Amino acid sequence: MKILATTSVATLARLFAALAFVSAGSIAAHAASAQTDADAASIRHGQYLAVASDCIACHTAKDHGKPFAGGYRFDTPMGTIVSSNITPSKTAGIGNYSEADFARAVREGKRPDGTNLYPAMPYTEYALMTDDDVKSLYAYFMQGVTPVDEAPAKKTALKFPFGLPGVMSVWNLLYLDHDRFQPDANVSMLVNRGHYLVDGLAHCTTCHTGRNAMMALDKSAYLGGAVVGGWYAPNITSDKVSGIGGWSDAQLAAYLRTGHVRGLAQAGGGMAEAIENSLRKLDDHDIDAIVAYLRTVAPIRKPGQTTPSYAVDPKHDVAWTDFEQPIPGNDSSERFATTESNGAALYSAACAACHGVHGHGTEDSTFPPLTHNSAVGALEPNNVVMAIAQGVHRKGADGEVSMPAFSAEDERITDSLSDDQIAAVTNYVTEQFGHGNAQLTGADVKVIREGGKPPFLIRNATTLAIGGIVLALLVVVLGALAVRRRRSAQA
Ligand code: HEC
Ligand code: HEC
Ligand code: HEC
Repeated sequence: MKILATTSVATLARLFAALAFVSAGSIAAHAASAQTDADAASIRHGQYLAVASDCIACHTAKDHGKPFAGGYRFDTPMGTIVSSNITPSKTAGIGNYSEADFARAVREGKRPDGTNLYPAMPYTEYALMTDDDVKSLYAYFMQGVTPVDEAPAKKTALKFPFGLPGVMSVWNLLYLDHDRFQPDANVSMLVNRGHYLVDGLAHCTTCHTGRNAMMALDKSAYLGGAVVGGWYAPNITSDKVSGIGGWSDAQLAAYLRTGHVRGLAQAGGGMAEAIENSLRKLDDHDIDAIVAYLRTVAPIRKPGQTTPSYAVDPKHDVAWTDFEQPIPGNDSSERFATTESNGAALYSAACAACHGVHGHGTEDSTFPPLTHNSAVGALEPNNVVMAIAQGVHRKGADGEVSMPAFSAEDERITDSLSDDQIAAVTNYVTEQFGHGNAQLTGADVKVIREGGKPPFLIRNATTLAIGGIVLALLVVVLGALAVRRRRSAQA
């Protein structure tokens, strides 16, 4: 359990060191002669921090929502959480927030009225943010963002017992660390900067670190890989087999800026969003810092894994005769409206036009190979399933890519593949180009599409909470009976 920070001399000294380190930029701004220049610089710095922290990704509704006006929905095992309007509107946004209110919301997850935010807002990560950075961020949100006087239409609606007042206070007491970022004197400035970005602003940990039964980050699985909204955010520790230890610095930097490196990996799902809204806009120094820090992260090896996900060699040579069933014509209207259940035939009809019969993609990097591809070679088939279901949509530093979504629920193409068909084609792709048949059923695909299995406590929280309340009532009633019996015995 984390204890509140105490203001010892040592803590103060570390705090000053942290400020000197992280805010070299804004100190330079303060030296500027006119106050207004300093203000402008602080707002500009705040804007950069908002990009690095990717506030916009969660605070803008999908499909052309107004920037920062909220309404992005998180469907979690605990119910639906809707992000708030954080424009400086006085009626619908945070226009009435003082700087202290803002700091408390961002770093402690508390609104000015004392109610708690749910940790879908990554305040446990932003808790590391330095005072100077919070100040600049506040200046930007108050003066650099256009107010939108419209509250999100949908409201947060959590299942019992998660909506009960007090639940989050107890959680915060257990899992919210109040320490600000403290640079480590034993490593370089670059590595410290990377550490601050990875754990704090850019909150890579939010997606890449596994969670415990209470949905808090599991420190022993730090950056060791985790499921987020159905996708699998892979192990990015320095391990050479299970992590990114085998990637070169240049490959890592290119991936973070553009979202793909041919013959290695590409970014879909939440990673595509992080690249589009945030990482592709970071300056080179910050990308280098993230790479330098990732090199220092303690390796986590997955038991039994011997080949990196991107280096799996296909076991079979694919020939046209592998598609033993008749293939719907490429141009026919039945191409997708198929009841086909054979994975090879489905692959031929729905995938081969872009990824090639042999899974080699195209020579230029328009369509990636599926051989030597971290999504296909991974032990978790999630990213193959999710790429097929939701497609891949991303703007990177080098342009835009798009793979169509095949699941009916994502409604991006007129005809779609059923869960059974997605399972069949995933099994074919992993068998031919990956580490082996993923053996998925349509039911498995549905579970993945819906975000994966929640932990036991969350799944059974209603029962447990009702049990808990019944138990509490029993204790009260029995206690009262016992007291009365003792009283009557004494009388
Ligand atoms: C991963 C998603 C995510 C990111 C990134 C994120 N937020 Fe949030 N934020 C949320 C959600 C969800 C809520 C609403 C939580 C709730 O209703 O309990 C929220 C609520 C807030 C609130 C409370 C507003 C209110 O009164 O309701 C503030 C302030 C806020 N965020 C600021 C920020 C800032 C500033 C950033 C960037 C530094 C940021 N958020 C980044 C998801 C996010
Ligand atoms: C919103 C969730 C999310 C955040 C935040 C996020 N990632 Fe990811 N990341 C993912 C997912 C999901 C994938 C898998 C993408 C795919 O294969 O389509 C991924 C893939 C990666 C990969 C490729 C790994 C491989 O083996 O293919 C690297 C490297 C990576 N992320 C680094 C980072 C870093 C560094 C940060 C912080 C600066 C970060 N990610 C932030 C979700 C996230
Ligand atoms: C219209 C062309 C097109 C079709 C059809 C297509 N893809 Fe893709 N696929 C792409 C593009 C483009 C990307 C992303 C490339 C990038 O990120 O650079 C991609 C990426 C992928 C990835 C990597 C996903 C990740 O997140 O890492 C997989 C796996 C994949 N496709 C499998 C399939 C399968 C299986 C099918 C058939 C059901 C299919 N694709 C159909 C164009 C296509």
